[in-house]
Amino acid sequence: MNARCLKKLFVDFFVSKNHVEIPSASLIPENDPSTLFISAGIQPLVPYFLGTPHPCGKRLVNVQKCIRTGDIDEVGDCVHHTFFEMLGNWSLGDYFKETMIPWSFEFLTKSLNIPVNKLAISYFEGDNDAPKDVETAALWEKQGIPSQRIVLLPKKNNWWGPPGITGPCGPDTEMFYWAAVSPPPHNFDPNDSNWVEIWNDVLIQYFKNGQGIYEKLVQNNIDTGMGVERTLAVLNGLSDNYQTSIWRSIIATIEKLSKMDYGDKPDEFYIKDGKQFWVDVRKSVRIIADHLRAAVFIIADGVEPSNKETGYVLRRLIRRAVRHGKIIGIEKNFCQDVAQSILDNQESFAGIYPELNQNKNKILEIISVEEIKFRKTLNRGLSEINKLIIRNQNLPGQEAFNLYQSFGFPLELIKEELKKNNLSLDVSEFNRSKEEHQKQSQTLSAGKFKSGLADNSEIITRYHTATHLLHAALRKILGGHVQQSGSNITAKRLRFDFSHSEKLSKEQLKQVSDLVNQQIKNKLNVTIEAISFIEAQKEGALAFFGTKYPDTVSVYTIGDNATFFSKEVCTGPHVTNAGVLGIFEIIKEESAGSGKRRIYAILK
Ligand code: SER
Repeated sequence: MNARCLKKLFVDFFVSKNHVEIPSASLIPENDPSTLFISAGIQPLVPYFLGTPHPCGKRLVNVQKCIRTGDIDEVGDCVHHTFFEMLGNWSLGDYFKETMIPWSFEFLTKSLNIPVNKLAISYFEGDNDAPKDVETAALWEKQGIPSQRIVLLPKKNNWWGPPGITGPCGPDTEMFYWAAVSPPPHNFDPNDSNWVEIWNDVLIQYFKNGQGIYEKLVQNNIDTGMGVERTLAVLNGLSDNYQTSIWRSIIATIEKLSKMDYGDKPDEFYIKDGKQFWVDVRKSVRIIADHLRAAVFIIADGVEPSNKETGYVLRRLIRRAVRHGKIIGIEKNFCQDVAQSILDNQESFAGIYPELNQNKNKILEIISVEEIKFRKTLNRGLSEINKLIIRNQNLPGQEAFNLYQSFGFPLELIKEELKKNNLSLDVSEFNRSKEEHQKQSQTLSAGKFKSGLADNSEIITRYHTATHLLHAALRKILGGHVQQSGSNITAKRLRFDFSHSEKLSKEQLKQVSDLVNQQIKNKLNVTIEAISFIEAQKEGALAFFGTKYPDTVSVYTIGDNATFFSKEVCTGPHVTNAGVLGIFEIIKEESAGSGKRRIYAILK
């Protein structure tokens, strides 16, 4: 099975059920300032769920281009992509779950030939906003899915949308495929990662209004979504999405340019030009392939690199691709060649998306200009490094930090340059300088440095615990790159600065505050233990001003010790139970300088 075939099977199936195929909408949403990019097929169709008639009727099907920028830092593993294609079909107030569930079963078992024994289902367990979806379970059982393979899950798993603060949404039912070689277990355990979600039927019945109330929509709708790359990988027995045929010609181009083999080992020592170096080739190849594919499609939809919004995302994608090209040893400009292989990709893109051919020259030109520009920045930094290398032998961390600070020169490249000259870098000194700098800038902007804490009154103590919850929630929602870079608490609010380069979407902010409020609602205990700093790090405690800590430190844990929600090395003080915090609300999110964001939040 290849991508072209999967897409055709899907579209043909729904056309045979009287759906009209609509073209993919642009990646850039029209009339929707709440998101930068289209991230699901439903997004451009939102008005039609509210009753506006769609020009093509009530049954639609398509292959939608999507971008999920929240995943940029995850790209590099086997399953994440920034750009991907989503197969979807919609009922705009026409058929509902009684029809959709049998169709889903038919498509999976007949068109894709998946044995029933390899399928499992989850559905919505119900809450205060919407009841348990008993009909859905019964419909699946009627199709022949055994009850032990059908599980109830809460809203966080089986509810979709709205993507912004308000909009259409509803419970969903997800289909999982047993992707391991071993026979599928009798019972479905949604935590077993061998069960891979491949399709999602969303039952769009509600509209979440500005007050957070779920109102019944005037019509029942269906929205489904199936990711092309993931489904294709599992159907072909691959655990690495990048090994599917979609990527073959693109990865072959990168292999040729780098003289590196995507191979089957994750990372290795390489010897090139008589020098040894250690690289995770697969990770870099995936990043280059993914980011340049996304860049090609974003430019085709009219975006140019800039320092704002979609243009900034595009710039970041190209620059990260260039950096990873350097990591795997590509010295000359290469992005254009990779972009060309994406434009020529017969399997999935060429001839399918007319905007690629129409904007071919512009795409190649923009990518090439951006690469040249970024290489100049990198080269300026490199010549500075060389000056330092001549003078200093080993590069003191302090000077490396200056380079990082003034040229935006990535630490990994500094290390690599030094390694080439058999020199090394004192990374702990680098980190110390970085922290020192952060502290100084805080001092400058705040006029004082008080580790952020003004006094120990009861309200301040509550805000302090809320800061830990916020920190952990940001890392869970945005990723492990989030690190505290500053904190300031008054009796009226907390202010928290952290490393993250994009503005948080309304949805992300909501996810973060929901997650914090959930922990408050769960009345998690806050416990303190005094252990060695090394032990604390082993236990996974966050500690960002590392060098300041004594050998034995206090570690505050929120939640059970084994399944904690947050664990931080900290001097306190904290409340003893998160339940006393009240309602947590984010009131503002803004930039706090390059690569940093700032959140103001209150407890009500
Ligand atoms: N909107 C749902 C999703 O993004 C299904 O299309 O998964």
